[in-house]
Amino acid sequence: MTVMINDKAQPLNDQKLIEIRDYWNEHIHDLEIATEPLGSLGFFNQLDDYRFDKLHYLPKVVDFSSYKGKKMLEIGCGAGIDLVRFAREGADVIGIDLAEVSIDLARKNFAQRNLQGEFHVMDGQATAFEDNSFDVVYAHGVLQYTADAPAMMREIYRVLKPGGEAIFMVYNRISWLNFMKNIVKVDLEHEDAPVFMTYSIKEFKTLLNGFDRVEVVPERFPVKTKLHKGLKAFLYNNIFVGAFNILPKALVRPFGWHLMAFAYKK
Ligand SMILES: C[S@@+](CC[C@H](N)C(=O)[O-])C[C@H]1O[C@@H](n2cnc3c(N)ncnc32)[C@H](O)[C@@H]1O
Repeated sequence: MTVMINDKAQPLNDQKLIEIRDYWNEHIHDLEIATEPLGSLGFFNQLDDYRFDKLHYLPKVVDFSSYKGKKMLEIGCGAGIDLVRFAREGADVIGIDLAEVSIDLARKNFAQRNLQGEFHVMDGQATAFEDNSFDVVYAHGVLQYTADAPAMMREIYRVLKPGGEAIFMVYNRISWLNFMKNIVKVDLEHEDAPVFMTYSIKEFKTLLNGFDRVEVVPERFPVKTKLHKGLKAFLYNNIFVGAFNILPKALVRPFGWHLMAFAYKK
């Protein structure tokens, strides 16, 4: 892909961003579930299987095949699991992440699959890209972990082309999982990260109000976990998930743990 990179890239000098980078260099998302050798194709396939088992909603709300030929930026790409899905379907992709370990893994993931992609260690709040560079910007599970989410939003709007689409996911504070956390003392993944935010639907819409059109879609209802073991996990998998899933969808919909947003620039 030829995207002009301007001279706005700054060395990381914000203390909070340094803490965030250091944390994610040591806690790559979902890495602990993989048993295959680090960086092997089997390893990346395990990460993919785990992610799309846990987030089985994702291919239903994001049609990975509909971005063929589009210039796409993923902010906070981690090991590039979602970006592979876009690239495999013909999107022209760039992934950035604060964490060097993520970028190294994402490059290996693409190399293992003979896919083309460009990767940079870069802050998504102040990227090096020109205005109006991308058709699509994707940031799944990132705004809630960054130092300044409004700054990242403004940056995404800036680098999107007119007519472009941004896709986000943040955590819903008024959700079944936050309820479980408070009542049954369930730990949330990466709650110990230097920044960990949850949003109500209203707050998320406020964060998105720089966009010209926005749709927020609550997702991620209880599914069985392979990650946790012990009594709590047993009760969760065998009682809670089943009980929740028989409730009417319309009733529980606002309480999904993930708030996806599809936001458009005029
Ligand atoms: C929970 S992980 C999500 C990774 C991937 N998107 C996924 O869903 O598996 C959050 C990622 O966001 C990255 N991140 C946080 N703040 C960032 C920023 N300001 N710029 C770029 N990446 C950032 C972290 O380094 C980390 O890899």
